[in-house]
Amino acid sequence: MISKCLFPVAGYGTRFLPATKAMPKEMLPVVNKPLVQYAVEEAVEAGLSDIGFVTGRGKRAIEDHFDISYELEKEIAGSTKVELLKDVNNLIEHNEFAFTRQVHMKGLGHAVLSGRNLMGDNPFAVVLADDLCVPDEGDIGVLAQMVKIYNQFRCSVVAIQEVPADEVHKYGVIAGEDMGNGLYRVNNMVEKPAKEDAPSNLAIIGRYILTPDIYERIEATPAGVGGEIQITDALLQQAKEGCVIAYKFRGKRFDCGSIDGFVEATNYVYENLYKKGR
Ligand code: G1P
Repeated sequence: MISKCLFPVAGYGTRFLPATKAMPKEMLPVVNKPLVQYAVEEAVEAGLSDIGFVTGRGKRAIEDHFDISYELEKEIAGSTKVELLKDVNNLIEHNEFAFTRQVHMKGLGHAVLSGRNLMGDNPFAVVLADDLCVPDEGDIGVLAQMVKIYNQFRCSVVAIQEVPADEVHKYGVIAGEDMGNGLYRVNNMVEKPAKEDAPSNLAIIGRYILTPDIYERIEATPAGVGGEIQITDALLQQAKEGCVIAYKFRGKRFDCGSIDGFVEATNYVYENLYKKGR
């Protein structure tokens, strides 16, 4: 059983400056809820109740968000506003939250390794909160879909999506044997390839389930693209042994790390979730 989920949240969010000068990018609200809360809700829906954050300097607001604010509670007690804090208070009440710091920003692989003390030697999920995933109406979330796949294969699982050829350079890109039902057994993966070097147009989006042998692979992974230790490079070592499954998920994904994706997400959530009370 997987019960743990890691949220690497140490990144600077420079694309959103000046908004992210003094505020973590994961706290940017899509309508009235911060990105990181959507992500934690998705994990909890997937049955993951041990929530770990790899944070960094200037990210304290995330810890405060997943804690009781007694002053505020006292202020709004007895008013209709109490309802607005119900969901986050439920998360706090029924799940465990732990935080560790990534002292040096050396990439996503390094962030995952920094979370080892929180995740332990167990399979665990990794969620990048700036990829906002919204399930189709009546369907389960992307992470819940991936937990089912992990339970079937007991291998690392990455979520993928087809992207236009001129966008592959923004992603980790996989190639693999098509097993049907949106599943691929990965045999190659490249982080941020140039269009002409990409093994396909199947891009990894920010949802992973990792088996604990990933740690030793990360330790053995030299700095890659951008001088950073890439999770994609470490996963390639697992893939060479046949144990990485890529999954074309059901649902919508918004790249909230970009202004366009963020605005799109805001419009979609407002029309389809917020106004309909979903
Ligand atoms: C990271 C990963 C990349 C993945 C992407 C998904 O890149 O390194 O493989 O495709 O997330 O959002 P980043 O967007 O942090 O540069």
